[in-house]
Amino acid sequence: MIRFLEYNDLHNGFLVCLGELYEVDWLACGKVFAEKSMTKNTYILVYVENFKILGTASLILDRKFGHNGRYSAIIEDVAVRKESQGKGVGEALVRVLIKSAQDLGAYKVILNSSDHNLHFYEKLGFKKHENAMRLDL
Ligand SMILES: CC(C)(COP(=O)(O)OP(=O)(O)OC[C@H]1O[C@@H](n2cnc3c(N)ncnc32)[C@H](O)[C@@H]1OP(=O)(O)O)[C@@H](O)C(=O)NCCC(=O)NCCS
Repeated sequence: MIRFLEYNDLHNGFLVCLGELYEVDWLACGKVFAEKSMTKNTYILVYVENFKILGTASLILDRKFGHNGRYSAIIEDVAVRKESQGKGVGEALVRVLIKSAQDLGAYKVILNSSDHNLHFYEKLGFKKHENAMRLDL
């Protein structure tokens, strides 16, 4: 089942999933959850099986002054726990986000991918476009 993130998910596998992507700050997570749940245009999905979180993916919507005021949608934090990878969890999550972005009127969906995961996103219809830039602070 795919649904929105709930507070109790944090320690029921959600942070373990994110640990596949980056070092997670377990102490700050309650505060982060509180802030994110109040943030408009941020959607965090989780994939649940047998009451355990197997994966997660997020969508952030940015309304544009152009494109008839439609949203640009950004996919972030796609992560599946190690033992559940390769079983369709990531694909299912990203497909729901793409459909949601479409239903909400977005004109495009963008994301950053490592070289390693390019094929995963290409299978979902994404194409390389321009370059990602980053300034570490
Ligand atoms: C990348 C990730 C999200 C993919 O999720 P997943 O549940 O393992 O992938 P799925 O099982 O849904 O894969 C769907 C398809 O993509 C393919 N695929 C998945 N990861 C791939 C990869 N890294 N390289 C090439 N193909 C890949 C699968 O083989 C599958 O193809 P198939 O339909 O022909 O069998 C997951 O492996 C993960 O969490 N990795 C660690 C964190 C990470 O790198 N996140 C992405 C940030 S950009």
